[in-house]
Amino acid sequence: MKIGIVGLGYVGLVTAIVLSNEGNQTICVDIDENKLSKLNSGVPTLYEPGLADMLKENTEKMTFTKDYSLLKDCEAIFVAVPTPNKDGRINLEYVYSAVKSLKNHAPGVPVAVKSTVIPGTASEIYKETGVRVVSNPEFLREGSAINDTVHPERIVLGGDQAESVSVFKKIWKFTNAPVIETTNENAELIKYASNAFLATKISFINEMANLCERIPGCDVDIIAKGMGYDKRIAPYFLKAGLGFGGSCFPKDTQAIVSYSESLDAKLSLVDSAIKVNERRVGHNLDRVESKFGKINGKKVCVLGAAFKDNTDDIRSSKSYEIITESRSRGAEVVVYDPVITESPGLKMIEDPKKCIEESDIVMIATEWPSFNGLDFSSAKVVIDFRGILDTGKANMVVGKSE
Ligand code: UGA
Repeated sequence: MKIGIVGLGYVGLVTAIVLSNEGNQTICVDIDENKLSKLNSGVPTLYEPGLADMLKENTEKMTFTKDYSLLKDCEAIFVAVPTPNKDGRINLEYVYSAVKSLKNHAPGVPVAVKSTVIPGTASEIYKETGVRVVSNPEFLREGSAINDTVHPERIVLGGDQAESVSVFKKIWKFTNAPVIETTNENAELIKYASNAFLATKISFINEMANLCERIPGCDVDIIAKGMGYDKRIAPYFLKAGLGFGGSCFPKDTQAIVSYSESLDAKLSLVDSAIKVNERRVGHNLDRVESKFGKINGKKVCVLGAAFKDNTDDIRSSKSYEIITESRSRGAEVVVYDPVITESPGLKMIEDPKKCIEESDIVMIATEWPSFNGLDFSSAKVVIDFRGILDTGKANMVVGKSE
C-alpha cells in the first residue's frame, strides 16, 4: 500500500519505518527541514535499538518531504504530530492544522489519528474541518519501539466510518494482534486510561518504597516480586525508582486530570500519582543527605541522562531533575550516559570509569542494565536510585532501609 505519515517524532518515524519494512511505500511529511534532510540521507533522528538498520534497509520505500500534496494518492494517512500541554491542558493545534492540510491536499483519503488526544477530539476535528478520522492510539514504548509496533498487544480502532476503519485494520493485520473496534471516544480514552494506570502503578510502588525504607529488613523489589506473581497484579511497572519521566506519562496524566476536572469528575487517584511522582527526586536527595551529609561542595557523578534506558530522549527526564536539584543544593555535577555524549547545559564525561573515580558520590539515575557491569571499586559512595545493581554494590538503594 501507499501510506502517508504526518509528523516524524517517535511514533511517526517508527510507524513509517515498520510499515515500510512490511512492504508498504510510505510518504512521510514533517515541517522540520533539518529532520527531513537527515532522514533523506539515511541518518536516524533519534536513538532506538534496531532503528538505524531498519531505516537503511527501507530508504528506497520511504519519501521524506514537507510537501503535503505528495499524499494525495495515498490509500491511508496517519497523523502523529505532537500534542503538548499548554498550562497543564492539551494543545491540539498541530492536530487540527495537520488535518486541515490533509483536507486540502489529500481529500477523501482515510485518516487515522495516532497522536494522543483527549476524548471528543475526533468529533471536534469533524466540527472544525468536516473530516471524519479514525482514532488509532499508539502504545509503543521508547527503547522497544520497533518490537512494540511489530508485536503490539492490541490494536484499537475508533470510528463510525466502517470503510475507513477497515483500511487501517488491513494495514495492521500483519501484527496478528487483537483488534478493538469501537467509538472514537472510547479509543481516545483507552490510551489515557492505559497510561494513567501504568503511571499510578509506578507511583504506588514508589510509595511502597518509601515505606520499606522505614522498615528494617524490607526491600521493595522483593515486595514487588511477591505481588507480581499474582496474575491480577502482574510484575510489570512495579520497579521503584525516581518515578516516571519522558514525553508521555507526565504530560498525559496531567492532561487527563485537567480534562476530568473540566467534566467535574476529577481523577483524584491519578492526581495523587502525579504528586507522588513529583516528590521522588527531593525525597531521594534528602535521604542521601541525611545519611552522607550535605552534597553542597561535593562532586556528584550522575549515571544516565535520558528518561529511561535504551533511548537518548531527555524529555522530562528524572536524571535532569536530579542534576538540577543537586546543583541547586550546591553540588558540582558530571554526567555519563551510554548513548548521549553531548547535552545542553550538562558536563558529559565519555569514560564512566573517570566519572566514577573523580566523584564524591555516584548516583544512578537511569535504569540502563549495562551500569551493573561498571567497576565501582574506586567509588566513595554509590547510590542506586533505580534499584538495578547487584546486591552489595551500592551504599544506598531505593526502597531499602539502611
Ligand atoms: C509509555 C507507555 O509505556 C507506552 O505504552 C505509551 O505508548 C507511551 O508512554 C506513549 O504514550 O507514547 P514510554 O514513555 O516510552 O512509554 O516509556 P515507559 O517504558 O512506559 O517508561 C516511562 C517512565 O516510567 C520512565 O521514566 C521509566 O523510568 C519509568 N518506569 C517504568 C518506572 O519508574 N518503573 C517501572 O516499573 C516502569
